[in-house]
Amino acid sequence: MSDTDFSSFSLDDFSSFEEETASAPATPEQHTLGGAAIAVVDIDQAVREYLSAQFGEGVATAESLAQMESRIGLGPLVIVLGPSCTGPDDFAMVEQWGRTNPEIGTVLVTSELTTQLLQTALRSGVKDVLSAPIDQMQLIDTVGRIADTLHAAPAAPAPQAAAPEGPDALEMLEGERAKVISVFSTKGGSGKSVVATNVAASLARKSAKPVVLIDGHLQFGDVAVMLKLQPRHTIVDAVSQIDRLDAALLTDLLTVHEETGLRVLPAPLEPTFADQITGEQMVQLVDTLRDFAGHIIIDMPAYFNDVVLTLIESSDDVVLVAGLDIPNIKNVKIGLSTLSLLNIGREKIHLVLNRADSKVKLDVGEVEKTLQVTAAAHIPSDVVVPISVNKGVPVVVASPKSGVAKALEQLANRFMDGEAAAAESSSGGRRRFFGG
Ligand SMILES: Nc1ncnc2c1ncn2[C@@H]1O[C@H](COP(=O)(O)OP(=O)(O)OP(=O)(O)O)[C@@H](O)[C@H]1O
Ligand SMILES: [Mg+2]
Repeated sequence: MSDTDFSSFSLDDFSSFEEETASAPATPEQHTLGGAAIAVVDIDQAVREYLSAQFGEGVATAESLAQMESRIGLGPLVIVLGPSCTGPDDFAMVEQWGRTNPEIGTVLVTSELTTQLLQTALRSGVKDVLSAPIDQMQLIDTVGRIADTLHAAPAAPAPQAAAPEGPDALEMLEGERAKVISVFSTKGGSGKSVVATNVAASLARKSAKPVVLIDGHLQFGDVAVMLKLQPRHTIVDAVSQIDRLDAALLTDLLTVHEETGLRVLPAPLEPTFADQITGEQMVQLVDTLRDFAGHIIIDMPAYFNDVVLTLIESSDDVVLVAGLDIPNIKNVKIGLSTLSLLNIGREKIHLVLNRADSKVKLDVGEVEKTLQVTAAAHIPSDVVVPISVNKGVPVVVASPKSGVAKALEQLANRFMDGEAAAAESSSGGRRRFFGG
């Protein structure tokens, strides 16, 4: 999302694009990006012209989402919704397609971005929201990113879960409910899964209570691979039994990481199953786990949708991971303003700068100044990380003496109550990252 002036987008901006020919329902043979066709929908023809011109020739246009229906089912398609497409009917249609047509992705371009519009759009399944004035590169980048996540296959029915094998022997421990920590970023490949698996592994070794890692990257999660697990069950099994799910049944579905005792709920094996899982169901899973776990860590994808938003909102802490390059920093700025629009308290957010060391030409202090955030952790760039990822052993286990492992251990300590936190506090202080 753009953090530019939300109110500066006016339909008058499009006055130079009024010579469009009569708009017709979209046709399939169009400009493609990442293998997906692109269409622009808005009631105003000047807006349609302006938005489609950002992609060059061959973008389909339509006055309403209803006109797009004949195009549905003909392969991957990213629909750019203009400012007129913000009615309840529009969002209902986007939501319906989200359930039935995983090959369709939508992005909304709006003139006035309010918290309510953002929430409504993202909850209905709109993949991203951009506010005017439109930056052409950002629009193309966003549409390309959405195209990469689309798949042509129709939504598959939920598989029957394997029959549970009786209550798990996991001991229920009394006391406070688990702390939920989401690991998120606004840019793919920034290191979320590395941070999530290592923080979770570290907490699992230190904590008296069970620690659970959920792979919330429902389409392309790789937590199980990073921990060299061969899970018998995934989130799909848990969700398909959601109505009778209790802690005993759910713990039976978790896969234990032997070296650390970490319990893992992996992502679905097929990306198509992701579309059938709702934010509400994920929160129900997390709530069930909260009763017996000490910490629940959720590894997220690099975009906002209903599942991500709902999980972030119900988290106690959000670890925001950023690589140390300009596109990452730009995206963190956007991510921070989005989280703030969504009323996620700044005290919940912990910035982690990944691959942060002297060889990178960006100065960490400058970056922190630009973002007006002090990072909770600086993780150096080190070949031990890809080596450990390829071996399927967390860095904190494989190379505990490395700078990366130490930084990740310290980060994990921030989420420990009692001794570990006290130790950390005495050796540098438990800083809040937004000056609190
Ligand atoms: N500090 C680091 N030093 C060296 N390599 C790193 C470091 N952190 C991450 N990497 C490498 O970057 C790759 C991407 O990391 P990771 O999978 O954790 O990113 P991600 O944010 O989870 O990606 P995605 O958005 O696809 O889920 C990893 O394979 C890892 O080898
Ligand atoms: Mg990941």
